[in-house]
Amino acid sequence: MVYLIEKKIWYFEKPGAENTETTLKLAVERAKELGIKHIVVASSYGETAKKALKYLSEDLKLVVVTYHTGFMEEGKNTMDRETEELLKSKGATIVRQSHVLSGIERSISRKLGGVSRVEAIAEALRSLFGHGLKVCVEIAVMAADSGAIPIAEVVAIGGKTRGADTAVVLRPAHMNNFFDIQIKEIICMPREKR
Ligand SMILES: Cc1cc2nc3c(=O)[nH]c(=O)nc-3n(C[C@H](O)[C@H](O)[C@H](O)COP(=O)(O)O)c2cc1C
Repeated sequence: MVYLIEKKIWYFEKPGAENTETTLKLAVERAKELGIKHIVVASSYGETAKKALKYLSEDLKLVVVTYHTGFMEEGKNTMDRETEELLKSKGATIVRQSHVLSGIERSISRKLGGVSRVEAIAEALRSLFGHGLKVCVEIAVMAADSGAIPIAEVVAIGGKTRGADTAVVLRPAHMNNFFDIQIKEIICMPREKR
């Protein structure tokens, strides 16, 4: 017998932060339908994370993945301390660690030129599926490697530069088993990627 699921995918016309509230709402709806316990959200400055706080509950944990210290400015965090404390006080987990889809390879490419295999994976995801989906994959691995989420289905949310426009259901993997990741469902994404 063939087991078939019919499922809606929502497409935004264009990528961008104006899609944030809708993305969060659709992501939470699907997480609840599937009984998923963790939502993983990319948030560089904390704006998207603050908008996601209203969905936090006993059954739905919020994991916020932010830029590593020094990503924009040496020794500095993008998310200010006040925002981080607020998110933590409401029960969110903050993940701040090296970015798995660039890593030290980015330093080598910048210094010596060429492109690494890791950056090629990132570019393939970005170009074919959009920035947001590349971010969903990357932050899920980062959250898994920080021990903030289990290797079980989660909802991951990313966007293009700021805010959120893409949400997926995925089963993450650690960075030493990257190709074990499975994107199970696309909840929403922009049709235009650039
Ligand atoms: C680890 C990490 C990697 C990211 N990579 C990209 C990227 O490759 N392209 C992109 O457009 N945005 C990228 N972002 C931005 C996110 O997708 C998202 O739009 C942003 O973190 C939201 O921040 P805000 O809540 O402060 O607006 C990345 C964010 C993080 C935390």
